[in-house]
Amino acid sequence: MGSYQNLLIKRNGFVTTVTINRPDKLNALNEPTRYELVQALDELKDDDGVRVVILTGAGEKAFIAGADIKDFEGRSPWDQFRAMKESGLFDKAEQFPKPLLAAINGFCLGGGCELAMACDIRVASEKARLGQPEINLGIIPGGGGTQRLPRIVPLGAAYKMLYTGEMINADEAYRIGLVDELAAPEALMERVEEIAATIASKSPVALALIKEAVKASKRTSLDEGLRVEAALFGMSFSSEDKVEGIDAFLNKRKAEFKGK
Ligand code: COA
Repeated sequence: MGSYQNLLIKRNGFVTTVTINRPDKLNALNEPTRYELVQALDELKDDDGVRVVILTGAGEKAFIAGADIKDFEGRSPWDQFRAMKESGLFDKAEQFPKPLLAAINGFCLGGGCELAMACDIRVASEKARLGQPEINLGIIPGGGGTQRLPRIVPLGAAYKMLYTGEMINADEAYRIGLVDELAAPEALMERVEEIAATIASKSPVALALIKEAVKASKRTSLDEGLRVEAALFGMSFSSEDKVEGIDAFLNKRKAEFKGK
């Protein structure tokens, strides 16, 4: 992996954890950090030794407390448009072709909440607090908050977060479906690593095809999505992993998937 100023990258077997490492600033996403995240995701995407990626924040307090507000001061509309478009972080995360898990260890605000929403699975510490506080700054979310939030939680719950800018606690986030599981703060990483290890033991080919099919479900009609699924289902029969999976089941042994 390349060297990063604002990220820590830890490999454990097929699972890689990317930790945003600006705890003094509650891991706020300044421009260099956004670019580093994009670069890291690009590297991890192409690395066959990586099957699952976990995103989390350094320190006890925050996952990510949003965009770095300092970057906004004095910035022109055109500069801000380019800053978002050129890094493309949120789309990059959503399009990442392998399972991407968010371990939400504290404040998860603004761009942090938007990045978590671009992940596939969100597990939060019971102490986490989530929100889209942009309205308090007189601006609106720009990393997908107005689009992904109402697709994940009930419409009224999305409006409430977006209009009031108030943070919600982890229980409420779980209740409305913004996070998928809660864990005690000290058990969070262990739990997310456990989920990641389970996923990493599966066929990487099948995982990639599932992700492709689920992504299609967000953008197509049911009929179209079912056609995409049928084509990808057929494609899954072309892999060595399929031969291995069926043979392992029939011979009552554990499958060893190679991602081929
Ligand atoms: N951008 C830039 N710096 C940020 C930041 C952000 N989004 N969030 C926190 N920080 C910095 C603070 O300025 C402070 O830096 P300093 O020590 O140099 O003054 C440091 O992180 C610690 O934050 P602090 O505000 O002292 O912690 P707190 O526990 O009192 O409050 C929050 C925590 C999350 C409630 C508060 O930091 C906050 O409201 N942050 C902004 C959240 C936000 O609006 N995000 C969306 C941006 S679009």
